[in-house]
Amino acid sequence: MRRHDADFGSAYRREETVASVGGKHALFNALQVLVDHGDEVILPVPYWVSFKDIVRYAGGDCVLLETDEAQNFRVTPAMIERLITPRTKVIILNSPSNPSGAVMSPEDLTEVVKLASQRGIWVLSDECYVYLNYTDRNFSVGALREYHDRMGILGSLSKTYAMTGWRLGYALGPAAVISAMQKLQSQSTSNPTSIVQKAAVAALSGPQQCVTEMRAEYIRLRDYVVHGLRAIPGVQCTLPEGAFYAFPNLSSFFGRGGIRAASELVGRRLREAYVATVPGEGFGSGNHIRVSYATTVEELDRGLERMRKFLAAL
Ligand SMILES: Cc1ncc(COP(=O)(O)O)c(C=O)c1O
Repeated sequence: MRRHDADFGSAYRREETVASVGGKHALFNALQVLVDHGDEVILPVPYWVSFKDIVRYAGGDCVLLETDEAQNFRVTPAMIERLITPRTKVIILNSPSNPSGAVMSPEDLTEVVKLASQRGIWVLSDECYVYLNYTDRNFSVGALREYHDRMGILGSLSKTYAMTGWRLGYALGPAAVISAMQKLQSQSTSNPTSIVQKAAVAALSGPQQCVTEMRAEYIRLRDYVVHGLRAIPGVQCTLPEGAFYAFPNLSSFFGRGGIRAASELVGRRLREAYVATVPGEGFGSGNHIRVSYATTVEELDRGLERMRKFLAAL
């Protein structure tokens, strides 16, 4: 909460904050608390795999917002507005996005928050990658203090401090929602362990230079992998503006070598070329695959070369 305030001017108070066992846990609890049976939740595509299932578990219906690859998977307020119905309860935002790396501008984020607030709709902003925004226009909707009453922010230490296995996430939101999330949490998992809480305090209150350095390194790796992917004939790839994934379109290979879908391509490439990527179907985008570049240039080189050979032989 103090870190978030220092970085984004969000001024959340203690009773508006809860620490959970990872960002996914915070998201899960927030959606269970906010979504009732029959409620609609607007979800931009491509989406991080867990959003859809967690909404369904809460009894909600996902209303998918299709984006345009030619526009870098951009999500605009107008696109969201078109999908609003009397049943809309929540709009999920995830900027920078997993898997596409798309980043919403501060203006677009502000507009979405405003239009949601005018209609009594909640905005849940998943900020897991907020410190891995490469646009130099980093922003959190938490800065829009006058709209806090209809907004939940979900964060994680997994990416910012490379602490995935430690399991520490958080939610920021109105005290009533946070209190309900705390009740749910106290009757299920309880809190993150005290040991991890201490580690989180060290990460959040210590020097933040490591985050700046890691971000700079990810930009270098992003440029490297996108350049390498674009050099493979038949591969199209947008330039991700955040997170640490490339999301190339491999649909030009469908129909070659008996391959009909991204999942088949990814499966065969894993078995035959030993390159692990994630098929786009789970993200709602069957023409794509997700390539993580959270590794070294040497590893990326090996992977790209194997990928190139595998695709050329199809
Ligand atoms: C968009 C997004 N949200 C939430 C999470 C959950 O992160 P964690 O539970 O490790 O904090 C992830 C992890 O990949 C993610 O990509």
